[in-house]
Amino acid sequence: MMARGLQAGRQAGENRRRMTTALLSALAEEQQGLIELLQAPVLHRAAGREVYTGRLWGEPVVVTLSRIGKVAAATTATLLAERFAPQRMVFTGVAGGLAPAVRVGDVVVSHALLQHDMDASPLFPRHEVPLYGRSRFEADQALAAALTQAARRALGASKVHQGLLVSGDRFVSSAAESRALQAALPEALAVDMESAAVAQVCHDYGLPFAALRSISDRADDSAHIDFQRFVQEVASPCMHRILAQWLQAGALPG
Ligand code: ADE
Repeated sequence: MMARGLQAGRQAGENRRRMTTALLSALAEEQQGLIELLQAPVLHRAAGREVYTGRLWGEPVVVTLSRIGKVAAATTATLLAERFAPQRMVFTGVAGGLAPAVRVGDVVVSHALLQHDMDASPLFPRHEVPLYGRSRFEADQALAAALTQAARRALGASKVHQGLLVSGDRFVSSAAESRALQAALPEALAVDMESAAVAQVCHDYGLPFAALRSISDRADDSAHIDFQRFVQEVASPCMHRILAQWLQAGALPG
């Protein structure tokens, strides 16, 4: 009994160690320095992307850039799911803050994701993805909880929010558009251009998914200026600190 218990424990440990995480970001600036941190990196070229496999803080990863927008992100997520067989996927990058409490420099971890520009009404309710019978894709709750815990350790609890993240093929750059989004989707914490598309792909493949986004701007009239400054100076060091906390915690579920 004892020997079997030990064997099962060791097996569980090995399974955990073997779990490959796909790490996606839209822009090179958001992932800056991550490839240099890879242990035993191998470069693969596919679908016009450069995909790296290797280990980060000892954990197996597959890392690439999705490029910008829902289609590019969905293509990239599909490529990773099909060719690199990850066991979970995490999107890291920046987002525009929508809810008043979500400030520049804060972090949002997705609990659910929605495409704010999906509208096949009157055939289907606004925001519902046709033939899926849903407008929201849930993030993997264990994964989201582990990322939240890591972000809280890295940045302090007051800067970390969990909730609805919305995506669309628009850079939201006016207070009027931000207000309209908040009126249509009062629960939305932040807006980006990729995460909900990747959530849909991961739903199709049965892959656990969550998005981790630092807030670069308030999706208002100065969003484009704040965005550029933030992605150049703050985004990637902030994400590295959280990813290091999370992957080094290794044994945590999620
Ligand atoms: N990503 C970062 N800021 C954004 C914004 N304002 N709109 C859409 N995506 C974003």
